[in-house]
Amino acid sequence: SAPARNPVPGTEFPPVAPNTRDAVVVADGYQQGVVIRWGDPVVEGAPEFDPAHQSAAAQEEQFGYNNDFAELIALDRTGAESLLVCNHEYTSEEHMFLGYDENNPTEEQVKIAWAAHGLSVVKVERQADGSLKPAPSRYNRRITLTTPFELRGPAAGSDLLKTSADPTGTTVLGTQNNCSGSLTPWGTILSGEENINQYFAHADAVTDPVARERLDRYGVTGMASTRKWERFDERWDVAREPNEVNRFGWIVEIDPHDPTSTPVKHTALGRFKHEGAAVTIADDGRVVAYSGDDERFDYLYKFVSHGKVKRGTSALARRHNTSLLDDGTLHVAKFTGNSPGEIDGTGKLPADGEFDGVGEWIPLASGKESFVPGFTAEEVYVFTRLAADAVGATKMDRPEDVQPNPVNGKVYCALTNNSNRGSAGNAGADEANPRVGNKHGHVLEIDDDTTGTRFGWTLLLVCGDPDDPSTYFGGFDKSRVSPISCPDNVAFDRHGNLWLTTDGNALDSHDGLFAVPVEGPERGHVKQFLTVPTGAEACGPVVRDKLVTVSVQHPGEVDGASADEPASHWPDGGTSQPRPSVVAIWRADGGEIGRG
Ligand code: FEO
Ligand code: CA
Ligand code: CA
Ligand code: CA
Repeated sequence: SAPARNPVPGTEFPPVAPNTRDAVVVADGYQQGVVIRWGDPVVEGAPEFDPAHQSAAAQEEQFGYNNDFAELIALDRTGAESLLVCNHEYTSEEHMFLGYDENNPTEEQVKIAWAAHGLSVVKVERQADGSLKPAPSRYNRRITLTTPFELRGPAAGSDLLKTSADPTGTTVLGTQNNCSGSLTPWGTILSGEENINQYFAHADAVTDPVARERLDRYGVTGMASTRKWERFDERWDVAREPNEVNRFGWIVEIDPHDPTSTPVKHTALGRFKHEGAAVTIADDGRVVAYSGDDERFDYLYKFVSHGKVKRGTSALARRHNTSLLDDGTLHVAKFTGNSPGEIDGTGKLPADGEFDGVGEWIPLASGKESFVPGFTAEEVYVFTRLAADAVGATKMDRPEDVQPNPVNGKVYCALTNNSNRGSAGNAGADEANPRVGNKHGHVLEIDDDTTGTRFGWTLLLVCGDPDDPSTYFGGFDKSRVSPISCPDNVAFDRHGNLWLTTDGNALDSHDGLFAVPVEGPERGHVKQFLTVPTGAEACGPVVRDKLVTVSVQHPGEVDGASADEPASHWPDGGTSQPRPSVVAIWRADGGEIGRG
């Protein structure tokens, strides 16, 4: 049946039904095209992708693997030319290399993997047919796991960050597990280093109890790593090079306007499994950055700069504003519900009709001063999780993207899921995380006093199948919404509607991209805009007036599948191995996205 007409600008499209097709399925009336795939040339002169003859030298000039966060930075007023900036989160060697032997990776395969990490900057041009295509430009650049980064802020130069290759503790080679990110108001890109633990080997050979506690809290465990990189570079071996792991897990900043610039790691924003970070500028000009630590029972953070922003995106403004993220106060969130005693873990709404309450930003450190007993400031920044444990922050259901909505000023956080909520030995339900065994996640809306320490909050969505009584869609009629499970990334259109991608849909459908109004009578009216292919996660959404892009990450990543026996043939079809790619979607008639 035809959907009821939705009067909210930006979300007037016919929803896509849940499905499991090995395709990107978009709303009726929309067209799509691949923008760039893993292995496509980025740097001028780069070779074309040749799956049977891959090399590190080629990969260093080609689009990396597993594109996640993406942003389009317009180079002109019309948006005809933009810079696409993309994170490459992690590698899946069995899906990359034909005949891959996980017990004996070759040195070349390992070096290809290093080159497939990091970020890409590539100019893209809007074509007459609506599609978006890469183009040569002086901006085109690859940042990899061997690109030098400058460590900055209050922990730079700390003994905790010194290694034999970098006795000053100020220069790190590369970035990895870059998950989400954001565009800053000054035109640079922030990117979060997330599951950095998985690449480090031999934690179980570390005997010092303090070192072991720190490694454990960051999930660095076991002996040989899955990818065996420690065979080719000792920095991946924590028993031999104990501080290298401390040099990952930061918010990094890159300046896509200056291809010669050295990327930065900002220690003032703390070290954890950063999903990403997003900033807003307070009325007084200070910069406020929000960041989630994506782990079950981990925390939500806020950084407030001491200095004030220089307006604009000039080179001078970019240099000044980047330095603001090196000096400020790092806080962690504590949530207090207003319906105590009514949270039974089933998702049943309290009598006041909302999961809501107030919260407090607890300061952890400011510049070189620590507020956490037993922790130096350097320890707060490098072992932020342990400092946040000590002050009693609220354990959340995996905070993913946290972004301010530029239209209504509220801050939205995707809490993707937490199957362990309420299980033996773990925290039970609370009003901000109201379901035990939370399979489908929820979306939090924060009304923050930007530079202050108090906030109000409510849950916008408690996700899942709308027929499931534990779900909540902002009070909207559940018979009219799309099912949604495991929200991860958030974006906003110019009307202020929230767009969400999902990762790990636990319902009977592939992941996808959804739009939901956050104000007015349609608040909570979730509609699905697209679904992604088999095994893929949808991430990195960009929503413009006449264009949407989405990252299709890890297509074909299904248990037992490999490059030799792919579970997906997207996007190239036939018998091809799948390739993570960015896809553009536009209206067939050239009109605005989501306008009737
Ligand atoms: Fe890489 Fe938290 O998703
Ligand atoms: Ca309540
Ligand atoms: Ca993510
Ligand atoms: Ca995720």
